Amino acid sequence: MDGLHETMQAVCLRRVPQGMPQAQDFELRQLPLPTPGDSQLRIQVQWLSLDPFLRAQLGGRYAVPCPPLGSIVPGYGIGTVLEDRSGRFAVGEVVSGLTGWAEQAVLDAGTVSRVDATLAPISTAVGVLGIPGLTAWAGVRRILEPKPGQTLLVSTAAGAVGSVVGQLCGAAGCRVVGISGSAEKCAIATAEFGFDACVNYRDADFLQSLRAACPDGIDGYFDNVGGAVLEAALSLLNLHARVVLCGLSDQYNRAERPAGPNLGPVIGARARLEGLVVYDHLADFDLCRRELAAMIADGTLRYREHIHDGLASAPAGFIGLLNGDNLGKALVRL
Ligand SMILES: NC(=O)c1ccc[n+]([C@@H]2O[C@H](COP(=O)([O-])OP(=O)(O)OC[C@H]3O[C@@H](n4cnc5c(N)ncnc54)[C@H](OP(=O)(O)O)[C@@H]3O)[C@@H](O)[C@H]2O)c1
Repeated sequence: MDGLHETMQAVCLRRVPQGMPQAQDFELRQLPLPTPGDSQLRIQVQWLSLDPFLRAQLGGRYAVPCPPLGSIVPGYGIGTVLEDRSGRFAVGEVVSGLTGWAEQAVLDAGTVSRVDATLAPISTAVGVLGIPGLTAWAGVRRILEPKPGQTLLVSTAAGAVGSVVGQLCGAAGCRVVGISGSAEKCAIATAEFGFDACVNYRDADFLQSLRAACPDGIDGYFDNVGGAVLEAALSLLNLHARVVLCGLSDQYNRAERPAGPNLGPVIGARARLEGLVVYDHLADFDLCRRELAAMIADGTLRYREHIHDGLASAPAGFIGLLNGDNLGKALVRL
């Protein structure tokens, strides 16, 4: 094997981001190819998932600690098996796991999942049929429990999680109102994902527009952002409304945690707020995947992917995600 083939490209953490991550926080490096040990497999990575939780992890605010400087940036990926020493996978099979931002990865066989390419394109294994899809499905089925005729509000409406939440609530017969960060994303939420209305939280008259879009108040809210958007949503809660606390995108890039919202309306409405951690629902993954894949197949569930090309585009794609530039599930194609 010549020198070229014994190394691979990887994006490594150069310094811990302060505030909004910068391209210089990351560095493209040439690293030796990893070799699998017993019960491990080597994967050629084809897709990388860009996810907001990485920002929380790099800031030391996630269940898993910030990786050491110089190491490969962590993250989910999809790829084909090049070499298997576990006896559990065939060469050429498509799998997903925590590959990190690199051309190849060595993973413990027990941490890797097979990707069923017959369900939908394989990139969906980290999007609509992956953790974002399960997050949406678990929040809707287990917490929101939407009923026909109710009004449901969803933030990051055009994003990977929010777009599935909106469509599941629409399929349940609800009026679905989205909140998003640009006119373009609001148009995508209504035209592609079937939201009945979508309001831009960056507009000066946001609160007024939100009230106009929800004239009967809201019976449920799926919160992906926290902060001022959550505060506005709480002011619209109807009696016995349900609120899913799923994400805090509003504070991932802030050095200081902002002062909390006024939860008074939650008490007044006898509403139930429930935190969502997707990993509590892994046992339902097969059920969720079957249900969502059937909806994709019959045309009642759509998804959108925002694809960046080449490993070197991963840092800019991730920064774009944190800026809200992604139109759909953010991915890197290798
Ligand atoms: N609880 C769990 O187990 C779990 C699991 C998976 C994901 N999540 C959370 O779900 C949320 C959505 O994740 P996703 O993968 O679907 O990402 P996404 O919505 O596809 O992309 C992230 C979006 O966050 C919004 N955003 C970024 N910065 C923001 C800011 N400062 N203020 C308000 N919004 C901002 C932007 O959309 P807009 O411009 O439309 O606001 C951006 O497009 C994240 O908060 C994530 O951490 C939680």
